[in-house]
Amino acid sequence: FWPLYKNPYLPTQLRVHDLMNRMTLDDKIGQMVQAERQAATPQQAADLRLGSILSGGGSVPTPNTPAAWADMYDSYQKAALATPLGIPTLYGVDAVHGHNNVHGATIFPHNVGLGAAHDPKLVEKIGKVTASEVRATGPTWNFAPCLCVSRDDRWGRAYESFGETPKDAIDNATVVNGLQGRSLKSKGSVLATAKHYVGDGGTTAGDDQGNAEISEAELRKIHLPPFKEAIQRGAGSVMISFSSWNGQKAHGHKYLITDVLKKELRFSGLVVSDWNGVHQLNGNNDDLTADEVRESVNAGIDLFMEPYDAPKFISLLRTEVDEGRVAGSRIDDANRRILTKKFESGLFEKPFADRSLQKDFGGAEHRAVAREAVKKSQVLLKNEGALPIKKGSKVFVAGKNADDIGNQSGGWTITWQGSSGPITTGTTILQGIQQVGGANTKVTYDREGDGADKSYDVAVAVVGETPYAEGVGDRPDGLKLDAEDLATIAKLKATGVPVVVVTVSGRPLDITSELPGWNALLAAWLPGTEGAGVADVLFGEHKPSGKLTFSWAQDFSQLPINVGDGKKALFPYGYGLTYKKK
Ligand code: GLC
Repeated sequence: FWPLYKNPYLPTQLRVHDLMNRMTLDDKIGQMVQAERQAATPQQAADLRLGSILSGGGSVPTPNTPAAWADMYDSYQKAALATPLGIPTLYGVDAVHGHNNVHGATIFPHNVGLGAAHDPKLVEKIGKVTASEVRATGPTWNFAPCLCVSRDDRWGRAYESFGETPKDAIDNATVVNGLQGRSLKSKGSVLATAKHYVGDGGTTAGDDQGNAEISEAELRKIHLPPFKEAIQRGAGSVMISFSSWNGQKAHGHKYLITDVLKKELRFSGLVVSDWNGVHQLNGNNDDLTADEVRESVNAGIDLFMEPYDAPKFISLLRTEVDEGRVAGSRIDDANRRILTKKFESGLFEKPFADRSLQKDFGGAEHRAVAREAVKKSQVLLKNEGALPIKKGSKVFVAGKNADDIGNQSGGWTITWQGSSGPITTGTTILQGIQQVGGANTKVTYDREGDGADKSYDVAVAVVGETPYAEGVGDRPDGLKLDAEDLATIAKLKATGVPVVVVTVSGRPLDITSELPGWNALLAAWLPGTEGAGVADVLFGEHKPSGKLTFSWAQDFSQLPINVGDGKKALFPYGYGLTYKKK
């Protein structure tokens, strides 16, 4: 006969109740643990009764194609379904600006640019497109959006933030609805994750995984409101931050997780740890101890991202439960939350990848959405007659970021850290200039600027940062342009023609001393694969409409600098120029 929990017509809570009544303690403990795909084959995951699998940044099948992803994903589901209770697995990925792990996916601007676009409806659509491309490959859980409020540009994750005020994250929390759709069961929907709870963007000196030394009033005013918004929008999961609040790690913070998130904010979804976040509780990042397991479970975390230590976590937690240091009711709360999301996602009815979505993967329609976001995210910061470029002009293009899809996409692209070079398909900014300029516009390119002379009408230098992610991107020592960029710009300036500088970066850079020599400055942020959107603005196809959501410091020594703090920025929060009527 058909067990109640398998009946899709019954209320979710009844299905959860019936299933939990059939689960052993080992079944329940396994549901609370997530392993990295490289550390657990489908059969090992099933044997451990794991509740979840993840692909970390860059953890991809070979070949890195939607079809191979779907085969990989389905193999985990098949093994899970073959266990006695047949509980499907929840597979999570970081699709933080499109399904960025997968070659050929549509890669959107990172949040720093989306914030500047001030278009929450577009951001919702980006969520929808991203979810569709994720589901096309199988996974039903996205570790996004980051709703961090980045308060210090030295932070390596500044570009994952929509802006320096809570309003920027709140306005763009529409992405949650784009990702999750009207129901988690709807075609092309994924479970969203509001991250990283809480105060990841408020650490001292922007130290990634550092210490937010702020009052509770400031935590509640600046960093908590985006999570309140995401919860009201139905976000189904929350990821805990590596960072600490006044010296206490968020991963062990019962007040923040249980009292504030689950009780005060009434969050009923699942709470997931960050990558080995539990291992940091006793100060030493590597080992996993019983104390850390007990502290993080009792703090209220439900699902544990234990890439390579799932078996150890399971055995430590089993002992804590057997010896009464973790209550059965805590285990049940975690399982109820996890299983509820699995039922709501329709996983029991449709456990396998929806390959019908693959036809749109990385297609023209999705890329058009990305190009619109690129256009709207561009912020014009200076323009003394150099822009817009007239079609039919002679244009010289230079700079390390002009013809490099990897650099213009930034971190979290194909690999965790991202990388320079032709790492995926798309349009570089140079290619965009050639396309949008059209046949009558003569475009010459040289990365170093060699060959530029006064015969050109305008010279464009595309400069800035190369890809990084998380702490690797922390810049405690400065945010100036590198020597290559400065040399390139100098060559262009020597020609005497107007120089347009385009910065490709995850944050405002320290350019005050150089700015007087530039005729124009356009902040392109990290546009992703659709570089033509930058050219749309350079040629005036789209009049620049972006406005800064990060104060642009006059001097690095001002950091942190945020709207309302009384410091005088080079370009203040909300600043952005446009073109006069043509
Ligand atoms: C990383 C990040 C987190 C990500 C997780 C899984 O360390 O902190 O944002 O979702 O691990 O890749």
